[in-house]
Amino acid sequence: MRRLNRKKALNFVKELDAFPKVPESYVETTASGGTVSVLAFTAMALLAFFEFFVYRDTWMKYEYEVDKDFTSKLRINIDITVAMRCQFVGADVLDLAETMVASDGLQYEPVIFELSPQQRTHDTCTGTYYTTSNKNRANIVVISNGVCRFPFTSCREDDPTQPLNACRIHGHLYVTKVAGNFHITVGKAIPHPRGHAHLAALVSHETYNFSHRIDHLSFGEEIPGILNPLDGTEKVSADHNQMFQYFITIVPTKLQTYKVSADTHQYSVTERERVINHAVGSHGVSGIFMKYDISSLMVKVTEQHMPFWQFLVRLCGIIGGIFSTTGMLHGLVGFCVDVVCCRFKLGVYKPKSMSVFDGHVNSRSPLLSENAEH
Ligand SMILES: *[C@@H]1O[C@H](CO)[C@@H](O)[C@H](O)[C@H]1NC(C)=O
Repeated sequence: MRRLNRKKALNFVKELDAFPKVPESYVETTASGGTVSVLAFTAMALLAFFEFFVYRDTWMKYEYEVDKDFTSKLRINIDITVAMRCQFVGADVLDLAETMVASDGLQYEPVIFELSPQQRTHDTCTGTYYTTSNKNRANIVVISNGVCRFPFTSCREDDPTQPLNACRIHGHLYVTKVAGNFHITVGKAIPHPRGHAHLAALVSHETYNFSHRIDHLSFGEEIPGILNPLDGTEKVSADHNQMFQYFITIVPTKLQTYKVSADTHQYSVTERERVINHAVGSHGVSGIFMKYDISSLMVKVTEQHMPFWQFLVRLCGIIGGIFSTTGMLHGLVGFCVDVVCCRFKLGVYKPKSMSVFDGHVNSRSPLLSENAEH
């Protein structure tokens, strides 16, 4: 009884066999089939090869969500060189709430404004640095292996014989996450009940020169490999009273790559400059003003990779797909060739159709032959 059941089960499994064995003698190989097989295998190999590269590749996935983190402080990293002596300039941040942010984090370092040719060409990151007049630049996220550094900060080698005519202001500040204004103007800032004021009366207008170079300006954690839009900007003003304005929109960004994962901020910038001349109605204060605003949307950038199982599935798809498609095409082409050939060789089909058409006429002949045999 049990043996019978077992046999039944075995038979059932046998019936499920999708790969029935065909004896070698029934398999017919043809030259056309061989050619198609070679083509199919070549296509498979090529596609599998390319698929492997796709598998090895990674890409960035962008997602957006509302930034709910409004309690943390925003860090501003600054490295700017202004073509004025340090005692004449002052830098500070005024936020939307009109509170002056302590700018103790900034250092003032006397330097020379001009760069030596080596300093100018020493560039480890992009090969070029921006002096373009491009007014709108968005942040470029470069996930490079090296550390992106602009020439000026990394290899400042000032000639001791030259007078130190410029001031490098560098360091970082922490501000609340509201819009604000970072500016560098004449005179040191002094707190004032209604905002703040800069002591500019003692500085002669002849010494005003707001030519500047931005070596680095970023918000949030500093991450190697991120190229900020203002890094490497250089502006030379021909006039003493010049106002440079940068309108910056900061986008909180969560970066998650296979190398780094950080909370940082990207920004895009629009810039404007004009000469201050009260006689012609162009009012204002000369200096460098950076107005920043923080976007309420946060961008999540995730580096992604095809999982191995997906690679296997796609590989199977390629191999199986090409195999069956070429098989079908081969069969179809063979069938068409047969049909076309046989239309011309009418002799093959004609007798058969005749016998079907007037079978009753011919029906006698087998009888005759049978009779003849007997
Ligand atoms: C400001 O300084 C730069 C660099 O030293 C110089 O090229 C430019 O002519 C100066 N501008 C004025 C108005 O003095």
